[in-house]
Amino acid sequence: MKKILVIHGPNLNLLGQREENVYGDTSLDQINEQLTRQAADLQVELDIFQSNHEGEIVDKIGSVSHSGASGILINPAAYTHTSVAIRDAIAAVKIPAVEVHLSNIYAREEFRHTSLSAPVCHGQISGFGVNSYYLGLTAIVKLIS
Ligand code: DQA
Repeated sequence: MKKILVIHGPNLNLLGQREENVYGDTSLDQINEQLTRQAADLQVELDIFQSNHEGEIVDKIGSVSHSGASGILINPAAYTHTSVAIRDAIAAVKIPAVEVHLSNIYAREEFRHTSLSAPVCHGQISGFGVNSYYLGLTAIVKLIS
């Protein structure tokens, strides 16, 4: 069975209690449960990882080939806009990635309009709330099938 690495960046552990007007009231555990159900339907396995630390996310992406995963679904959260290291890690591993955001980053503050990681991802889904993750999982599974 194919495996997808799912990465949630900083502060996404606080979903459900964090700026609900922007990010909604679904917790990260609920998103992960739904993703896991969807993965079973799509006949893929998930390796789900959340970290608030840039280097840990870089390490996790770097180890993707050893983990046997053939695709990455990533919400780099605030690191989207700042992290050359995460961008370079995605570019380095030669495994397709799809970037997702709950909010529409282009409709928010100007500093969120730039994604350093999107250009090295196959594509980006932004602005559909929790459905961004579910659309993103479908997209990455189709990509690797
Ligand atoms: C986010 C958007 C980012 O700008 C922000 O820093 C986040 C969440 C989103 O999913 O909408 O933490 O990635």
